Parts: sequence; structure tokens; C-alpha cells
Amino acid sequence: MEKSITEKSQVLISVRNLTKVYQTAAGGFTALNAVNLDVYQGELLAVIGKSGAGKTTLINMISGIDHITSGTVKFGEQHIDQMSENELAAWRGLNVGMIYQSFYLMPGLNLLNNIALPLDFAGLYQREKAQNRAMELLRMVELEEHAYKFPSQISGGQQQRVAIARALVNDPAVIVADEPTGRLDSATAEVIFELFEGFVAQGKTILMVSHDMNFASRSSRTLEIADGTILN
Ligand SMILES: Nc1ncnc2c1ncn2[C@@H]1O[C@H](COP(=O)(O)OP(=O)(O)OP(=O)(O)O)[C@@H](O)[C@H]1O
Ligand SMILES: [Mg+2]
Repeated sequence: MEKSITEKSQVLISVRNLTKVYQTAAGGFTALNAVNLDVYQGELLAVIGKSGAGKTTLINMISGIDHITSGTVKFGEQHIDQMSENELAAWRGLNVGMIYQSFYLMPGLNLLNNIALPLDFAGLYQREKAQNRAMELLRMVELEEHAYKFPSQISGGQQQRVAIARALVNDPAVIVADEPTGRLDSATAEVIFELFEGFVAQGKTILMVSHDMNFASRSSRTLEIADGTILN
């Protein structure tokens, strides 16, 4: 399967010699060490590895959430590493759906408005259309009846589903997900994973960190990270 994808598909994300050194009180800490990676259009790539291996760091560098120390990250022909914060935010708003390990829901917004927020940022829809779109996504993650609650009024797993809905609201070509099913029971995780499989079938590209070996084994390809280096 891996072979057929790489033969047929185009490289969407290209990472070369990516190094990330975090500055800490104890000095520099190398979280990623000269990583090379190609992500192909239309694949569901699972990133696995032990806690602290560098998985979140890798996807944060790829989506421009944080700055790389050296190397290059390209999305198609665009150099992510050379974009300003404003350019990055605008580009992400149109192209990437991010599901973070900590969900970062806005506490002062109800669930519906949390989901509609990326549409506001990207200036994609008028208010009513944005609300309808957000409700459609809430329905998809089976939280429609909670639409007007605030994040503090729902469970951790439900918050995770809201974060997933928010990531999908702008219909991004690329979904970057950090442990998207980490706090979900196996039945709900299965629903989310099937949604992901459906997106890939539609031609979307998904980069997903997962500790769930069941899901990792159902992905198109698995990438294992250990101590800031890709093993395979
Ligand atoms: N802001 C930071 N400053 C300093 N060190 C950091 C920072 N963020 C992460 N690290 C360190 O970099 C390494 C990689 O962290 P990262 O969050 O990428 O791990 P991970 O593979 O996602 O782990 P987990 O499975 O626990 O989420 C860890 O040793 C971590 O302590
Ligand atoms: Mg992590």
C-alpha cells in the first residue's frame, strides 16, 4: 500500500534537514535532529513514538505553529519556514485544519462559536452561513444538543470532538492532528477515525499523531520517531 501511494502521488509537504532546538534554563535541547520527510497528497500518515520523542514538535514545525531552528519546510512550492506570522495565519486558515493535543477551545465562546471561529478568521462565510456550517460539524461529531454550552460545561472527550469539528470547518486540504482520539472511548474514536478515512477517500491529506496502534496500522503509512529522529 505504501508503495502504490508514493508511486502515484505528488509530494505535498517536504521537510529537509529540519532541526528544532528549544532554549531552556539548562541550555539548548534538540527535540528534532536533521529530520527529512515527504508527505504525499492523499495519504493518512500516522506519526508514532514514545512520549517526548518529538511528535508534537514535528507537526508544530510542519504547520508553522512554532519556528524551526534550521532546515526547510515546504508545502507545495510555498516555504512555510520563510513566512511571517501574518502570512502563516492566513495560509493556515485556508489550507490546514489543526487538531491540537491540548484543544485550545475559547472558554468564553459556546461550542457553536468555537467551531465557527476559523471561518471568521479566514473571512470565509457570512455569519448565518458560518453558524449553519458550524452546526453541521457539531452534528457530525454528535454534539448538536450541546451547541450553546461553553467548553467548561462538557467532558474532555466532548471537548476533543469540538476541536475536531473546528479543525474541519473550513474544509481544509490538509488535516494535522495531535492525538485526535487520545481522550475518546474506543467507539467514539472509531467514529472519528472513520471520518478521517472518509476525508482521505475524498483526497484530503492527514498527518496524525496516534498512540493507538489499531489506528496507526490502518493508516496508509506509519512514521516512527525516537529521540528527535525518524526511524523508518
Ligand atoms: N517549549 C519547550 N521547551 C523546551 N523543551 C520542550 C518544549 N516543548 C517540548 N520540549 C521537549 O522536546 C521533546 C519533544 O517534545 P514533544 O512535545 O514533541 O514530544 P511528543 O513526542 O509529542 O510527546 P507526547 O507523546 O508526550 O506528547 C521533549 O523532551 C520535551 O520535553
Ligand atoms: Mg505530543
